[in-house]
Amino acid sequence: MSKPTIVVTGSSGQLGRELRDASVNLSEYQFIFATRQELPIEEPEQVRLVFQRYQPVYCINCAAYTAVDKAESERDRAFLVNAESVGIQSGTCQQFGTKLLHISTDYVFDGNSAVPLKETDPTGPINVYGASKLEGERLALLNNDDTLILRTSWVYSAYGNNFVKTMIRLMGERPSLNVINDQVGSPTYAADLARMILQIIAAGKFIPGIYHYSNEGEISWFDFASAIRDLTGSSCEIRPIPTSQYPTPARRPRFSLLDKTKIKSVYAAQIPFWRDSLEKCLSQMKKQEA
Ligand SMILES: NC(=O)c1ccc[n+]([C@@H]2O[C@H](COP(=O)([O-])OP(=O)(O)OC[C@H]3O[C@@H](n4cnc5c(N)ncnc54)[C@H](OP(=O)(O)O)[C@@H]3O)[C@@H](O)[C@H]2O)c1
Repeated sequence: MSKPTIVVTGSSGQLGRELRDASVNLSEYQFIFATRQELPIEEPEQVRLVFQRYQPVYCINCAAYTAVDKAESERDRAFLVNAESVGIQSGTCQQFGTKLLHISTDYVFDGNSAVPLKETDPTGPINVYGASKLEGERLALLNNDDTLILRTSWVYSAYGNNFVKTMIRLMGERPSLNVINDQVGSPTYAADLARMILQIIAAGKFIPGIYHYSNEGEISWFDFASAIRDLTGSSCEIRPIPTSQYPTPARRPRFSLLDKTKIKSVYAAQIPFWRDSLEKCLSQMKKQEA
């Protein structure tokens, strides 16, 4: 008998690639990893054909328009990929009886909270990317009864482009770096998030709704950069600066720390501390270089 199938979209991104690595531990399923070229999620007919062919029991949507600053000038594209296409994918899931695991972001919040954000807290995105992801959440939940959304933050991995890699590169090029210290949250190692997703599937109970997931701890980008410096043995000086000294096209929430109580209680999540995960990612990067 053939194994039940899981379709993963956006599979060449950070999370998609970590899922590919982690999927070897869930051998009771057949995984179909689809890149943007293989399955552009804004093409409803292509999405339908993949579902028809594989009849997936789960779809993990890792596809997203993630260029936060560019989204300010590419609103239509951001909404097409992050909202409209997610709605279509979700509707296709409903049609085929597929459970949808969709990924969203801390940027659905306005950043004005002083305490960790719960799934039920009011949203209020302050940039186009956040608004497009929020609309994607709404459509994902509306069009399929079996939708589970994981909101995460500050994702990095040994794969793809991210803050950790940018910092390592800049630290090798410059004697000092200015890094923002008044935006607070927690990073998420995509390998941990991938394991969490597979743990949800392996749990055998699928409870739809929104969940928050990031690594444990509360830090600023300055703290994150300083840890990267310390753990890589760089001598680059890291200087804290306020957001006002680093203007970007998209505004970022000042505070976006996610409260993970729900996922811990429903799925017994054991979430690694951010610094331990950063160490793991750095050693993974070293292995890749070797
Ligand atoms: N990165 C973060 O800091 C962060 C923070 C919070 C939440 N998230 C969310 O976490 C999820 C995974 O993010 P990530 O960091 O893995 O992002 P990523 O590395 O940018 O990967 C996104 C993937 O989606 C693909 N893609 C883009 N448009 C597509 C389309 N129209 N059809 C199919 N695939 C498409 C991209 O393809 P190409 O490689 O060809 O461009 C890429 O492989 C996303 O939902 C994101 O919004 C990310």
